[in-house]
Amino acid sequence: MLKELFSEITIKRRVKEIANSINSDYHGKVPVLIGILKGSFIFFSDLIREIKIDCEIDFMKVSSYRGSQSKGSVNLESNFSIDVRGRDVIIVEDVIDSGLTINYLINLLNELDPSSVVVASLLFKNEVAQLNSKPKYICFETSQDYVVGYGLDYNQKMRNLKSIKVLDKLDK
Ligand code: IMP
Ligand code: MG
Repeated sequence: MLKELFSEITIKRRVKEIANSINSDYHGKVPVLIGILKGSFIFFSDLIREIKIDCEIDFMKVSSYRGSQSKGSVNLESNFSIDVRGRDVIIVEDVIDSGLTINYLINLLNELDPSSVVVASLLFKNEVAQLNSKPKYICFETSQDYVVGYGLDYNQKMRNLKSIKVLDKLDK
């Protein structure tokens, strides 16, 4: 069973607010927005269309694995190609859950000598375990519930839903 958590209109309004913050925070700069695939693709495309300053875009694809014993590891499946040395980078993520993926991405980016690295995340699960710093831009804070839609999947499906919905435990 699916229960709506954030409607299409609520998401649209909030994404615009985040874009407005980016517009003023990066006034006079040309940030590089790096979308983390696949989950962020809808958020990313809605966000950049509300950004009015000059910006560049690129993408990375990562997957994470968490075993019952291990803390988990992140696998880089495809990298971005823009030279980010001296640039202002905004990592665009779908969900921050344990923080494993975003910590990996921030460390990876920081090694490339950018001028700055911040995170814009659609969702932030507020019981996050191991995070070095809170993302600068967050659309919505949520509980640990598993959510789908607006780019987020369950077994690669349901990314196409227009709103963000909670997937009831019975479906898992
Ligand atoms: P983390 O490494 O534990 O922070 O997990 C981050 C990644 O797990 C996200 O980028 C998503 O791809 C995936 N993920 C975590 N929670 C959800 C969810 O509720 N729905 C869909 N994907 C999720
Ligand atoms: Mg993701």
